[in-house]
Amino acid sequence: MIPLEPYYELSDADLDSRIQAAKSALGSDCVILGHHYQREEVYKFADLTGDSLKLSRLASQRADAKYIVFCGVHFMAEVADILSAPHQTVILPDMAAGCSMADMADLPRVQSAWNDLAALMDVDALVTPITYVNSMADLKAFCGAHEGVVCTSSNASRILEWAFARREKVLFFPDQHLGRISAHGLGVPLEQMVVWDPTRPNGGLEPAAVRQARVILWDGYCSVHQMFQPAHVELFRARYPGIRVIVHPECSFEVCRMADARGSTELIQTTVRDAPSGSIWAIGTELNLVNRLKHEMPDKEIHFLCPTVCMCSTMFRIDAQHLCWTLENLVAGVVVNGISVPRDVAASARIALDRMLAVA
Ligand code: 13P
Ligand code: SF4
Repeated sequence: MIPLEPYYELSDADLDSRIQAAKSALGSDCVILGHHYQREEVYKFADLTGDSLKLSRLASQRADAKYIVFCGVHFMAEVADILSAPHQTVILPDMAAGCSMADMADLPRVQSAWNDLAALMDVDALVTPITYVNSMADLKAFCGAHEGVVCTSSNASRILEWAFARREKVLFFPDQHLGRISAHGLGVPLEQMVVWDPTRPNGGLEPAAVRQARVILWDGYCSVHQMFQPAHVELFRARYPGIRVIVHPECSFEVCRMADARGSTELIQTTVRDAPSGSIWAIGTELNLVNRLKHEMPDKEIHFLCPTVCMCSTMFRIDAQHLCWTLENLVAGVVVNGISVPRDVAASARIALDRMLAVA
């Protein structure tokens, strides 16, 4: 294996030309997927870009590529591994690129919540488990095994509709905000939602409250999107009359309700791109995406909906050095940072992912 350290001695120009050369050498054997939050020096080399849902679909459609280099975070690379063909290898350039929200739910705690619910009701008949795609593969497998499903930021409402057509209640993890705003949009009042605290017995809830709830929300959130506050929306509206506010649904319920529009990273990108020249926007999502849109559309006035910098530090771990190192190792015939979900986990997770892809 070629070591990583010397790549930090290279100039930006050298990194660019070596990444390009390695890509050319690998040709159609390798496809680079890039999430919209990736830093520019990496994103510019992506063959295909998108939000989580789009990238999941793309990963399953590129059966010609032997190697899928995923410039994103760990759960995304796991999904690509689950949906890709057995002859394909998925690579995450830096294994430390995780997701702090995904880490807020794990199988033992979800299983324990499920057991607690089973003590209160006929859980199999009444509750559909839904995991946001920002979660570990074994939680997707849990959903696959319990008639549940995966959702992303772009299809959470349709997935909830699907679930409510089958059973009365949902257990939604790990992102409480996406679950709350999506269920509320379908007409579920806040009084019929509870937040399950996995650190407390029975989620810290009275049995009666759990029994009457239609939506049981896991107490998880994104540390980046929680930075956007209602006061920021008010501030931008006061300062820029006519401004439109668009946010990611991982933002709080209040921020989502105040915004003019909300949606996945792909929807944010296309909405602002399609807007008329001269329009003014405040965007509540990760900084790299907002800066890219600002740069791409100087004819529009684009603001970041937060006075302080809020970046996804784990997305940021994928840098040009790691990308170059990964690709040059592949050229040398060495796979570094291959992602391989255990077969039994992948099989059950695939059931929940396929259900999602069939619905939305
Ligand atoms: P998208 O699916 O909208 O790209 O969101 C992924 C994510 O992690 C947002 O924080
Ligand atoms: Fe996870 Fe938040 Fe980063 Fe998205 S922005 S990958 S939810 S930590």
